[in-house]
Amino acid sequence: MHILVTGGAGFIGTHTLIELYKSGHTAVVVDNLSNSNPVALHRVEELINQSQVTGHRSQVTIPFYHTDIRDREGLEQVFEKHRFDACIHFAGLKAVGESVEKPWEYYDNNIGGTLTLVDVMRKHGCKNIIFSSSATVYGDPVEIPITENCPKGQCTNPYGWTKSMLEQVLMDIQKSDPEWRVVLLRYFNPVGAHPSGRIGENPNGIPNNLMPYITQVAVGKRKELGVFGNDYDTPDGTGVRDYIHVCDLANAHVCALQAITRKCGIGIYNIGTGHGYSVLDMVKAFINVNGVDVPYSIKPRRAGDIATCYCNPTKAKVELGWQSKYGIEDMVRDSWNWQKTNPNGYPLQAE
Ligand code: NAD
Ligand code: UD1
Repeated sequence: MHILVTGGAGFIGTHTLIELYKSGHTAVVVDNLSNSNPVALHRVEELINQSQVTGHRSQVTIPFYHTDIRDREGLEQVFEKHRFDACIHFAGLKAVGESVEKPWEYYDNNIGGTLTLVDVMRKHGCKNIIFSSSATVYGDPVEIPITENCPKGQCTNPYGWTKSMLEQVLMDIQKSDPEWRVVLLRYFNPVGAHPSGRIGENPNGIPNNLMPYITQVAVGKRKELGVFGNDYDTPDGTGVRDYIHVCDLANAHVCALQAITRKCGIGIYNIGTGHGYSVLDMVKAFINVNGVDVPYSIKPRRAGDIATCYCNPTKAKVELGWQSKYGIEDMVRDSWNWQKTNPNGYPLQAE
């Protein structure tokens, strides 16, 4: 299939491009580079072209458009040049704290951008979309492990609301026009990096999420990790999450693409491993597997955090034929491999 990948230069997008080409698909990337670097796309091409398994005989170049998804004319031009079978829609802003400070920017970018994208898609007869949602839509979940039947909850920040609202928008559009096929993938906590160490997560500024913070402490960029609370009702008192290797997550999109051609309507899937690990489990695994130190100290709870969040991923296994393959050791090893070989992320100049 020929796939439009919005936000394809980002963390999850780059890993998904590799999985797409591995499975014989081709892609076009639209990204405004607001949180990414074109070097990442060059490295994706390099990895695809090195790979023995892609089956692509000539050198692969992925068409890239430096376009904002809110730019209707820009998107029109892309759709005039290419005929897409589906869109995997990653483009969006994702920093929780920033979304509290700049709610308008988050609603404009994430909701405004998606509305424009979907409008251009339907005009051009492309009505298959896979959307990056998040476990955040469950709020403080009423059941653990979380199944897709768990009711959605109150989000604690505008970022979370954009995901929750966009799920509703896409469901309503599909309801009004059954030609649409919509897959909502609710990601749990993506970590890790491509095992080559060539692509990975490249946060701007001080990382908000646990794993990039750990790797930056390990590489000496930050003094110590603050563990946000050790008085939760969990086995060791620290927060428990469902960490998932980004390559497993990337592969879920390929499985969802296969399903989209078989199945009509709406599909909602939890994409996690089904295992919950605490903050200290992650820190200890990182230290043991990588043989590096990660100094930490206990800090007060972070506002908006919940004690425990992990999923039951059975529905994705049964309906998409997807399940995670990587474990906690792989996650901490590959995160570190990326960070230590790219201590400052991607270079600013093209390689
Ligand atoms: P990322 O920031 O690395 O990638 C997002 C990409 O979208 C970036 O390359 C950015 O430049 C681009 N982008 C943003 N706004 C755009 C716009 N208006 N037009 C065109 N491009 C735009 O983030 P990621 O971690 O790869 O996340 C991908 C998607 O998955 C996002 O929608 C995110 O909200 C969602 N998600 C991520 C996580 C996570 O922890 N990483 C968890 C749940 C959901
Ligand atoms: C956060 C977001 C969520 C988003 C997800 C993936 C919040 C409240 N939620 O989820 O909306 O979808 O990222 O991007 O921000 N921790 C520390 N020290 C740190 C960082 C984190 O102890 O420096 C702890 C947290 O308290 C939590 C766990 O590590 O228990 C995971 O945190 P994080 O990686 O930020 O993910 P979530 O909070 O699950």
